[in-house]
Amino acid sequence: MSKEHNIAVIPGDGTGPEVVAEGIKVLGALSHKYGIRFKFSPYPLGGDYYLKTGNLLPDNVIQEFKEMDAIYLGAIGHPGVRPGILEREILLRLRFELDLYINLRPVTLLPGVFTPLKDKEPQDIDFVVVRENTEGLYIGIGGVFKKGTPDEVAIQESISTRKGVERCVRYSFECCRKRDKGKHLTLCGKSNVLTYEFDLWERVFQEIGKHYRDIATDYHHVDAICMWMVKNPEQFDVIVTNNIFGDIITDLGAVIQGGLGIAAGGNINPEGTAMFEPIGGSAPKYAGSNKINPLAAISAAQMMLEYLGENEVAGALQNAIKKVVRDDLKSLEAGKMGYSTEEVGDLVVHEL
Ligand code: IPM
Ligand code: MN
Repeated sequence: MSKEHNIAVIPGDGTGPEVVAEGIKVLGALSHKYGIRFKFSPYPLGGDYYLKTGNLLPDNVIQEFKEMDAIYLGAIGHPGVRPGILEREILLRLRFELDLYINLRPVTLLPGVFTPLKDKEPQDIDFVVVRENTEGLYIGIGGVFKKGTPDEVAIQESISTRKGVERCVRYSFECCRKRDKGKHLTLCGKSNVLTYEFDLWERVFQEIGKHYRDIATDYHHVDAICMWMVKNPEQFDVIVTNNIFGDIITDLGAVIQGGLGIAAGGNINPEGTAMFEPIGGSAPKYAGSNKINPLAAISAAQMMLEYLGENEVAGALQNAIKKVVRDDLKSLEAGKMGYSTEEVGDLVVHEL
């Protein structure tokens, strides 16, 4: 019998539970058809749970997550909780404590999907962003002095460690080789201004690149990358970058691939566990309305299958998603799909 995959499920806030339910439905169908097995363990983390219990992310839960094969996350974010608390204490804490040092965000325009980029086709928009996920500006080091006075000082520090940069850059070269598409890795930085940090990134990039002679490399500043992603997205295969730049350029990536209705990502520790999520957030205004697009969450499930080594099943799911997008949905946007959240999940199951 095949190995059972232990999956922690965090439905979370807003539309998270609705889209995760569709993802689980699809995984259930795959389990039935291909004989793969899952054990889902739900965890009620998020804003609602925090407001009810005062708990954010208990230490024992982190320990339990370390034993899981993967974590499947809906969304964390609640209009009733001051911004920053849930993000820092749940999402970022999970990234740090589980050392999920890669944030992998594919940018793929599927056939039939509307992109706001004029004259761009699926073959033009097909790249992957590898975002460093545990360092940079996200570590929360800094402080304020003389707060609220005219002499106020605010400091927020960014850290890149050699170890952190090396493992991220090495992963990116490997990812590029495995993807085997353009064999082209781009470093996205800002070496003209962030002279210390990107000096380290550039040296590491060149040093590690020597071991990957089959992969062509180049470098662009982040501002230029934003411009090229709009003008010439076809020039990208894999882009590696630091935490904050990766955050920013992947929202741009999401919109050129058809929006948050389809964009998924993985927070990965290649030597440990990983967490997969739709990157659109909790969309509170659509919560409970059965209107949000679950395909981002279903695509996150597809990435999770790949991570779990279930490549054949992941491929089948990818084809089903493609067909539903091409043949059935009127749009990927919430409320404009021509189907409800649940019906989109059913369409994917039907294609399978
Ligand atoms: C993301 C999100 C998070 C980030 C926020 C919610 C802290 O924007 O996953 O991209 O900035 O990493
Ligand atoms: Mn973001």
